[in-house]
Amino acid sequence: MKKLEEYVISIPDFPEPGIIFRDITSILQDPDGLKLAIDSLLEMVKDVDFDVVVGAESRGFIFGTPVAYAMGKAFVPARKPGKLPRETVSMEYALEYGTGTIELHRDSIKPGQKVVIIDDLIATGGTVEAIAKLVEELGGEVVKICFVMELAGLKGRDKLQKYDVDSAIIYE
Ligand code: PRP
Ligand code: ADE
Repeated sequence: MKKLEEYVISIPDFPEPGIIFRDITSILQDPDGLKLAIDSLLEMVKDVDFDVVVGAESRGFIFGTPVAYAMGKAFVPARKPGKLPRETVSMEYALEYGTGTIELHRDSIKPGQKVVIIDDLIATGGTVEAIAKLVEELGGEVVKICFVMELAGLKGRDKLQKYDVDSAIIYE
């Protein structure tokens, strides 16, 4: 059986010159790749005491929901602006290319709940840092942050130093 990293196709200069795009769809379109990715994330959280998985729109939904389901936990989507229908909390952040805003429903995390944040990839760390701050604003505790891929050269981990961070594949 192939290793998880062997399923990733890297596309130079997408979506703009200078970016090497690490494509998760090449993992997902192979049943063994999909299983390896979800199993890697489950391994990271199997001994963690938590209540909720928060997944980042949109690729974090793909990986976060099956982990929440397998662990018998709730799933909360962190969404791009204007998508959530009820009262939200919101935060702006910088991306590898561009800026973004992320939102959570105000009632999605209860004070004291333990939260695992899952996303496909950490680049600058801005997305997940913003989500972690929103979780904390709602009174939640971020107990673990899991990624399928980490672009270590962009030093996103520096923004997440106070958290327990794990990545299945690290690109130097
Ligand atoms: C990508 C990726 C992460 C984020 C990583 O999402 O899926 O969520 O960027 O970048 P960062 O570590 O610099 O914050 P994107 O905002 O492109 O949205 P998508 O998942 O909908 O494609
Ligand atoms: N999101 C931010 N940077 C990325 C990259 N280099 N590849 C895939 N997704 C990304």
